[in-house]
Amino acid sequence: MKILVTGGAGFIGSNVVDGYINNGYDVVIVDNLSTGNIKNINPKAKFYLLDVRSKELEKIFEIERPDIVNHHAAQMSVPASVSDPANDADINIRGLINILNCAVEVNVKKTIFISSGGAVYGESANIPTPETQMPIPLSPYAITKFTSELYLNYYLHQFGLHYTVLRYSNIFGPRQVPHAEAGVVAIFMSLLKEGKLPIIFHFPDKPDGMTRDYCYVKDVVSANIKATATGDNKVINIGSSTEVSTGELYRTILSACRKKGIALDNKFDSPNKGNARPGDLRRSCIDNTFAKTQLGWTPKFDLNTGITETLETYL
Ligand SMILES: NC(=O)c1ccc[n+]([C@@H]2O[C@H](COP(=O)([O-])OP(=O)(O)OC[C@H]3O[C@@H](n4cnc5c(N)ncnc54)[C@H](O)[C@@H]3O)[C@@H](O)[C@H]2O)c1
Repeated sequence: MKILVTGGAGFIGSNVVDGYINNGYDVVIVDNLSTGNIKNINPKAKFYLLDVRSKELEKIFEIERPDIVNHHAAQMSVPASVSDPANDADINIRGLINILNCAVEVNVKKTIFISSGGAVYGESANIPTPETQMPIPLSPYAITKFTSELYLNYYLHQFGLHYTVLRYSNIFGPRQVPHAEAGVVAIFMSLLKEGKLPIIFHFPDKPDGMTRDYCYVKDVVSANIKATATGDNKVINIGSSTEVSTGELYRTILSACRKKGIALDNKFDSPNKGNARPGDLRRSCIDNTFAKTQLGWTPKFDLNTGITETLETYL
């Protein structure tokens, strides 16, 4: 079976590509390397350096004729979507439509689309949030992810193109890049390695930081493998169902660093504090029960184990 993975040079996409290849799938990658890294590309995959919005994509679909498309490529930063919503929509919506049109032309069986359970539900009072909760997106990024899901449903009804939507929580693990504004695990690990004190962003009434649902990338890989064979035309949360504050996450990383022998004195026990940024949610944690019934998937790595494994790649 051949899978075309967009964003296969990025953090999550490249881990998913490795998982597919290790499980015997043929993989084709389309990535423009805007945030991805050529070093992440599995040498057993065929790689096309291309923007998902490009007209050239049609030719690649004609040549490769994939059975499944796995769409990870995206503008994935909430703050970047707030400062440039048009660019976010252009990549995330126009890119998706281009892919779906190509998929219809060559009779792709299904598209696995990566949405964001950490973003689309907005400030839900229902924690952990199940898929039955109506999304109320509160950032341009969340709007484009939810809109994409609606397009997938349209292409199913109009053209019979099947889909599985995986709504990820906050994913961390090897190859995550410490962007200035996203990827908190990578940011904390990089700063601690350099001996710098991180900032815990928080709302005034939540001094220990916002809460998130952290899921290890190896669990995400197994969800993508399961989604090739099941979960058709379903929207499925992929997360840990565990709510963790930024402060708690920081302390978990700090303790893992000290266990590994990284010398961090007492000042690191009191990180800097900063105000929440535009688009930041107070709480986010998604219910993973539906993934169990639809995909037979449950996360196997707890936060500590995932953090300890990830730290190995920073040493
Ligand atoms: N990281 C998370 O916690 C998280 C959470 C929820 C959803 N997601 C989604 O998972 C997917 C992967 O995210 P990531 O964290 O690995 O980010 P990433 O930036 O590491 O990966 C994105 C990849 O897409 C490529 N790309 C971007 N725009 C492109 C374009 N126009 N054409 C072709 N390639 C393009 C980039 O070069 C990169 O390799 C995204 O769709 C993101 O929205 C991520």
